[in-house]
Parts: sequence; C-alpha cells; structure tokens
Amino acid sequence: MTGPATLGRGFGHGKLILVGEHAVVYDQPALAAGISVGITAQATAGDGALSVPAWSLSARADDGTTVGRGLDAILKRLAARDLDFRLEAPLPARAGLGSSAAMAVAIARAAAQARGRSAADEAAAVADAEAVFHGSPSGIDAAAASLGGVGRFRRADGWQAVPVLQAMTICVGLTGRPRDTSAQVANVGRLRERTPAAGKVLALIGELCPVAEHALAVGDIDGLGRLFDVAHGLLAALRVSSPEIETLVHGARAAGAIGAKLTGAGGGGAVIALAPGHEKDVLARWRRDGFDGFLTEIAGARP
Ligand code: PMV
Repeated sequence: MTGPATLGRGFGHGKLILVGEHAVVYDQPALAAGISVGITAQATAGDGALSVPAWSLSARADDGTTVGRGLDAILKRLAARDLDFRLEAPLPARAGLGSSAAMAVAIARAAAQARGRSAADEAAAVADAEAVFHGSPSGIDAAAASLGGVGRFRRADGWQAVPVLQAMTICVGLTGRPRDTSAQVANVGRLRERTPAAGKVLALIGELCPVAEHALAVGDIDGLGRLFDVAHGLLAALRVSSPEIETLVHGARAAGAIGAKLTGAGGGGAVIALAPGHEKDVLARWRRDGFDGFLTEIAGARP
C-alpha cells in the first residue's frame, strides 16, 4: 500500500547546552550544540493537521492549543495551510533538548520545500513559532536546530559557529521530570539578589566557555569532560540540580565518564556525559538506576 505523496521533508537538530546555562541570562557566553538526534517532518497534501506518534500528539493549525498555534504561525508565514505533517521524534519533549525549536525547524523546512519558499522565509516562520512556544526566546534553540554544529551564543551577538576538531559521542540521560525554565531562571535571579557570591558563580560559569571552546578546537575530550564536572559543581551551587540529576551525574562517573553535568535549566530535564569507550556502560548504569538515555554526536557545522 502506498501512502500520500511526500511533498517536502525537513530535519531540525536537537540542542544541548555544553556550558553556560543560566550565566547566558546575565550576558555571559554559552556553548551549545545542534546534535545528530532531532526531529524529521514529512509534508503531504492536507489541511493543517500534525501528528507526532512518538509523543502521542495530534494537533491542528486551528485547534487553539499551543502546538496548534505554533503550527498555524508557520503555515501562515509560508502560505501552506493545505499541507499535513507527520513527525518522527526520537528527541524527547520538555527535557531542555530544544524539541520545540527542532519541531518548528523540521515543519518549516518541509513546508518551505513543498512551497518553494526561501531560507529567510523558513527562518521567519521558525521565529514566529518559537514566539508562540516561548514568549521572547533568546534564539539559541532555533539556531542550534537549524544550523547544527557547535556555536557560542551570547544574547547581544547571537550564534557564532565554533570549530570542532573531532566529532564526539555524548551520553544524554533523562530525569523523566520536565524542567521548568522560567521557574529555575527566577530562582537563580532571587539567589543572585540575596547572595552576591551567586553572581560570582555565574561569572565563573561564563569563564568556562572559552576554555571549553579551546578544548573543542584542539580535540581535547578529556579537558572538556573535566569542564563538565566543574560546570556541574557551579550549577549545583546555584541550586538548579535535583536528586535525579545527581543520581545520573554520579552514575555516569561511576560507569567511567570523564565528566557529567546537567544541561539546560535544571531541576529536571537532562544530563550529559562524556565517556569515550564507556558510553554503553553509562547507558546501562542509568537504565539500572531507572533512567532512560541515548547517545548522540556533536560535530562541527558542515561548511
Ligand atoms: O530551556 P532550557 O532547559 O534549554 O534552558 C535554557 C537555558 C537557560 O540559560 C537556563 C535559560 C535561558 O533562557 O538561556
């Protein structure tokens, strides 16, 4: 049996913050990666319906839900209300892995391809959808989702691609608890107001960014892994860790990781670990402790 003809296809990368979460809110740089695991969209003739079987999610451009309104924003911008979309989503939602931006990029790319629209129109459609999903987002997720590779992100400068000498495998562990970015950012803000030392911790996190960038440029995986540990200690000092995050971080280290840290806002969400040669041991340890995880690649952006 043949299904409806595919009119367009698009892929959006998932995102990991390697170092700099929370500090980036205070104008420090962060390093983020568009990873190999992401979301693929397939566009067929239709009337603005979306299905994401992996998330048990269906939406329509006119249903008034958040996802429906995001979809509507993309389809309006690209004059593509006469398409349906089916998404393959191995990337988990609400874990701080940029799933909404990956979804927006995948849908906008598939729609732009189907309608012969420009990359600029596609980017505008993604920005419209991210505004629906996140209010006034920094743009880090959308840049990672559309460009891939690793980038230095600063609010004032946006995304600057950085070189990566050697592709590397990252273990991603899932706490199973959704993270709440605005609550965590507000908590850190309160801590910073009451405790001047917290401001110094944020500045120190910012200082790790150029060091991590150098480690990527020269292929120093050990150095980058150790920076993950330092970054995690600083984030824990800001009280954005959680018991599940600590179990994942300590489990990864016990299974042979060089370093591990929370990624994204914290409180829940995901943990990343660098464990060359021990990636499967890390996943097995996490599974034994009751947590899912997956492996993904980070590499330099394609020229
Ligand atoms: O929403 P997440 O989990 O990807 O985290 C965002 C990173 C923060 O620095 C905590 C917030 C921000 O707006 O940059």
